Amino acid sequence: MQELEEYWESFQEEIQKASTLSDWNYLKGKYVGKKSRWGEFLAKLKELSPEEKRVWGKKINQLKKEMEELLEERYQELLSTEEKSEVDITLPGKKGWSGSFHPVLLTRDWILTIFQSLGFRVEEGPEIETEFYNFEALNIPPDHPARDDQDSFYLAPGYLLRTHTSPAQIRVMEKLKPPFKVVVPGKCYRRDAFDATHSPMFHQIEGLVVARDISMGDLKGTLETFVRRFFGEERKIRFRPGYFPFTEPSAEVDVSCGVCGGKGCRSCGYSGWLEILGAGLVHPQVFTHAGYDSQDVRGFAFGLGVERITMLKFGIKDIRWFWENDVQFLEQFNIF
Ligand code: DAH
Repeated sequence: MQELEEYWESFQEEIQKASTLSDWNYLKGKYVGKKSRWGEFLAKLKELSPEEKRVWGKKINQLKKEMEELLEERYQELLSTEEKSEVDITLPGKKGWSGSFHPVLLTRDWILTIFQSLGFRVEEGPEIETEFYNFEALNIPPDHPARDDQDSFYLAPGYLLRTHTSPAQIRVMEKLKPPFKVVVPGKCYRRDAFDATHSPMFHQIEGLVVARDISMGDLKGTLETFVRRFFGEERKIRFRPGYFPFTEPSAEVDVSCGVCGGKGCRSCGYSGWLEILGAGLVHPQVFTHAGYDSQDVRGFAFGLGVERITMLKFGIKDIRWFWENDVQFLEQFNIF
C-alpha cells in the first residue's frame, strides 16, 4: 500500500507541472486511463484481512475519485490559458503586401544588364528635345513624314517630346570620345491612337557603338548574343533590309518565334519570325552633325521598343494593359 501512496504523490507532482493540454492528456492516460494502476491495487486487496480490506478499499476509491476531480480542474485551467495564448500553426500566415516593379521596367533593366555585361555603359537623354536632335541631326529632313505634326507632341516652336531615343546618339557622341559602347533607355512620345499595339507614351532602348573599325558583323554578333541571353539559347535572329534615315545600311531584325520554333503558327502570323528592333551602321551624315570626321569613325546603332519586347517575352496581347493600373495584372511579373 506504500506503492499507492507513492502513486498518489507522483500524480500530484506531475499534475502541477503539466503546462499544456498534451501534458494533461498524457497524465490522464497514465493515472485514470488504460495505463493506470487501479486494477493492480484492487487485486492486491485479496491478500488483506477483512478489516484492512475495508479501510484500503475505501482509500483506493477516494484517491481515484480525487484524481479524476483534480484532472478535471487542471483541464479547465489549461484550456483557458491555451485558448488565450496558443498560436494555431495550422492557420495560414499573414502575408505582408509589397509593391512590385512594373513589367516594362523589369524588362528594361534586364535588357540593360545584358548589354552592361557586354561592356556597354548606360547613358540618358532628355525627354524634351529640339527638332535638331530629334530629326535634323539624324538626317531626317524637314519634309520627312516623321516630322509631321500628327506624329509629334510639339511644346514650343523648335521643341517637342522626343519621338524616339535616337537623338541621344548625337548627345552621347558630343559628350564622349570614341571608342565607346552605350545603351540609352527612356520614354518616348508620339501622337498615336491608343490601341492594342500603340501607346502615346512608350519606352525605347537605343544602342550605339562607335570606334575606328566597326562592321555589320559586330552588330550581328552583339544582337545575336543579346537575343540568346534574353529570349533563350535556342532562338535565332534574322536581318531583313530596312530603311532608317540615320543608318546605312539599315536592317529590321527578327527573332525566331518561341511558340513554334520558326515553323509558323498563330503567334507569329505563320511566318516563324517576330520583329524586335531596327538597326544599322551609323550614317556618315549623322557623324558629321555630331561634329565627328565621318572618314575617321564607324559605328552601329539599334533601337528597340521595350513594351513590344515585354509583350513578346511574356505573351501579353494588349499594350494598354501596362497602363491600366490593374495590380493583379502588374504584380505577376515580379520575378525577383
Ligand atoms: N529610332 C527608330 C524608331 O524609333 C528605331 C531605330 C532604328 C533606332 C534603327 C536605331 C536604328 O538606332 O539604327 O523607330
